Amino acid sequence: MPGYKLAIDGPAGSGKSTISSLIAKKLGWTHIDTGAMYRAVTLQAIELNIDLNNEASYHFLETSNIHYDNNRIYIDDRDVTEAIRNEAVTNNVSLVSSFPYVRKKLVELQKNAAQKGNIVMDGRDIGTVVLPNADLKIFLTANVEERAQRRHNEQLKKGKTSEMSKVIEDILKRDQKDSTRKESPLRIASDAILLDTTYLTIEEVVNKIIELTDKKE
Ligand code: C5P
Repeated sequence: MPGYKLAIDGPAGSGKSTISSLIAKKLGWTHIDTGAMYRAVTLQAIELNIDLNNEASYHFLETSNIHYDNNRIYIDDRDVTEAIRNEAVTNNVSLVSSFPYVRKKLVELQKNAAQKGNIVMDGRDIGTVVLPNADLKIFLTANVEERAQRRHNEQLKKGKTSEMSKVIEDILKRDQKDSTRKESPLRIASDAILLDTTYLTIEEVVNKIIELTDKKE
């Protein structure tokens, strides 16, 4: 049985990963965070010291093995779940994910990963490109101040330093790059349900989406 496919897209800081992960836990489904995959490619590219601006440099993807296991992300056998959140990765991931070659490779992996079982997949192009036939498509959004506040709190909770004005600037830069790139830009699928989470708690959003999956079964 192919299973239920739930696609969750949205801009940076809209809560996609947190919400997708909680839904997956509650329902016993598999969560695939595609942003983490683009981040893993970016981390590997930085470590290999390749020219990040040259699409041909990314041919290392022919032999690298980026995969998920139990909600952790790996490059080959190395767990990079924490390493992919560093600043250098965050600052370069929109550039890396703009290359058609990189997207083609990752979309292939994502389509394969979604084949078996019940899946919650989150990203920017899940409803439009990766899972165009998903059973339910959600587009999460929230105003930029709220998204920045969430990122800011997350950083402080991890014991890192954070400055609100810089977080807002970074989010706006990434939104701009992700929604204006040529290849699979961030946009709402015509059959997606738009959910503005600015004034909702995480729990409210999770419950709302689970309610919607029930209706669509
Ligand atoms: O979700 P997260 O913010 O970790 O994603 C990091 C970056 O990866 C995004 O800013 C975007 O450039 C890229 N991305 C993408 N397509 C996806 C998921 C993420 O281009 N499906």
